[in-house]
Amino acid sequence: MATERQRTAPGLLAALHQARLRWGNPLEEPALAELSAAFALPPGEIAATASFYHFFQTPPARYQIHFIDHVVDHHAGIEALCNRLCAAFAIQPGERTADAHLFVGWTACAGLSDQAPAAIVNGRPLPALTPERIDAIIDAIRAQIPVAEWPAEWFAVANPVYRRGPLLTWLHATPAAAVLEQLSAREPEAILQAVADAGLRGRGGAGFPTATKWRFCRETADPTRYLICNADEGEPGTFKDRLLLTHYPDHLFAGMTLAARAIGAQTAMLYLRYEYQYLLPKLEAARERILAAQSQLPPSERITLEIALGAGAYVCGEESALIESLEGKPGRPRVRPPFPVTSGYLGQPTVVNNVETLVAVAAIVGNGPQWWRSMGTPDSSGPKLFCVSGDVARPGLYEFPYGVALGDLITAARPLGTPYAIQVSGPSGTLLPATPEQLARPLAFEALPCNGTVMVFDERRDPVAIVRHFARFFAHESCGFCTPCRVGTQLIAKTFAKIAAGYATRFDLERLAPALEAMRLASNCGFGLSAGNPVRDLIAYFRPRLDAHLQPHDFLPAFSLDAELAATRRLTGRDDTHAHLAQFEQPEAAR
Ligand SMILES: Cc1cc2nc3c(=O)[nH]c(=O)nc-3n(C[C@H](O)[C@H](O)[C@H](O)COP(=O)(O)O)c2cc1C
Ligand code: SF4
Repeated sequence: MATERQRTAPGLLAALHQARLRWGNPLEEPALAELSAAFALPPGEIAATASFYHFFQTPPARYQIHFIDHVVDHHAGIEALCNRLCAAFAIQPGERTADAHLFVGWTACAGLSDQAPAAIVNGRPLPALTPERIDAIIDAIRAQIPVAEWPAEWFAVANPVYRRGPLLTWLHATPAAAVLEQLSAREPEAILQAVADAGLRGRGGAGFPTATKWRFCRETADPTRYLICNADEGEPGTFKDRLLLTHYPDHLFAGMTLAARAIGAQTAMLYLRYEYQYLLPKLEAARERILAAQSQLPPSERITLEIALGAGAYVCGEESALIESLEGKPGRPRVRPPFPVTSGYLGQPTVVNNVETLVAVAAIVGNGPQWWRSMGTPDSSGPKLFCVSGDVARPGLYEFPYGVALGDLITAARPLGTPYAIQVSGPSGTLLPATPEQLARPLAFEALPCNGTVMVFDERRDPVAIVRHFARFFAHESCGFCTPCRVGTQLIAKTFAKIAAGYATRFDLERLAPALEAMRLASNCGFGLSAGNPVRDLIAYFRPRLDAHLQPHDFLPAFSLDAELAATRRLTGRDDTHAHLAQFEQPEAAR
């Protein structure tokens, strides 16, 4: 009988990317037959894996444009820009032109929150869109100019840094060569001890002590181990890793090599989100440099470095889903235990660390643990990269020590109006009102946990609409493996669609409560645990704003009753009052 372990197909994702370029989406015979032979998997299983990933669904077209469906982009007018492009070619979002030249669709936040509104064309970023830029794009498509020949400035992703601290200063000042020298100097135990003494905690969100995770892995009996760098950066509003991948890839690969050494891994892999594929040439060059720098080491101490590209699935940022994806499977989080540190990639002990964590490792080895500990709080040591976006004059990157007050970070980004609501740590985190007491809270694992992401919304924004965006995001991205999350995320999204349609009542919120509870208690991974957070916070902090959207009735249907009769009205030619239905019954008291 085939076990899970035998069904792995490392490299399948890369092969699917190749096949997509050659045969188009969705994959059919003979592409499936070819992959089936190469990976010894039934064609149906390959098709099922491909169908899990968003960017393997896009129909083939010379120009595939995905507009960013993210709350910050919506506030910056993305919908009008999308409609402008679609109207020029007489299509709707999600459609392809009759000549199959152009496809226009939507996609989740692509790590460009500081440069909203944005889109992606054939996998390349189109930041800071304007109506004029859209018109120029329309002209380029009409003139059939290949995307490779579009002006380079259309694709230029800036990485504005508004506050540099000791970490960015060190990265900026330290040539890669100096980092590489550390590679030959360090014994595994010394690297591990430095990271332990620094008190480094994971920068991917959960804040697990890095050295503890490493030690669990290192102490396993199995000598074949893996180190994986998580560059999926899928949490909406997050773009801090983008800066590190763009400007400091050598430091990252050096950090990966040091970490691999510390845990006794022979291979270190970088899992890069699809939307960052434009960085591949830079990353490949850095990988080559670090590999070359290792040539001075005895072969047994050299670390193999690999890069894998994702294909559009937020849940693949969850470490066990990421491992499944690397194994050529749908990115569904595993049932744990066993945890990756004991049974991860190909069933071997595996450590997954975030990009910023691994860059921190290089900095700690370079500067010593005391340097790191001298910053931050006792429980959350070191500097932290924060990415601020939304209604601020200076959306971009800020380095502060952990423990900085939320309000100080926001002030540094120069709010455009009076901040009203703040989303801390992305939609999985916390939606807070911008009250003095909330703004005074320190960003730290022991106080207000934050993966670095802060989105600022001023009084022009409706928190209910913000939560509706997040609800749609979670409903779209749930992997569907466990019932509370698969169903619960849909229930939340439907409830918010009903609220937006003006048909929701208090009853709809009450009905949601058990689903939220089930998601929180019975989900298989962190996704389901946190997908209810936006609603929870809306109810806790913005109740009057939510209530203002609710109808005073006991219950209302979620759809328009009158619209349901439209087809019959057309068929019968009737339009009398009996051929119509009222949506609202007068409440008892008002009769
Ligand atoms: C739904 C979900 C999405 C996640 N996305 C990311 C991500 O994009 N990047 C990341 O580093 N960690 C992400 N994580 C956390 C990872 O599972 C893991 O904890 C992290 O990569 C560990 O690295 P660290 O200890 O260095 O933080 C996500 C977790 C969940 C539950
Ligand atoms: S909680 Fe959601 S994302 Fe996580 S395994 Fe269950 S269905 Fe998948």
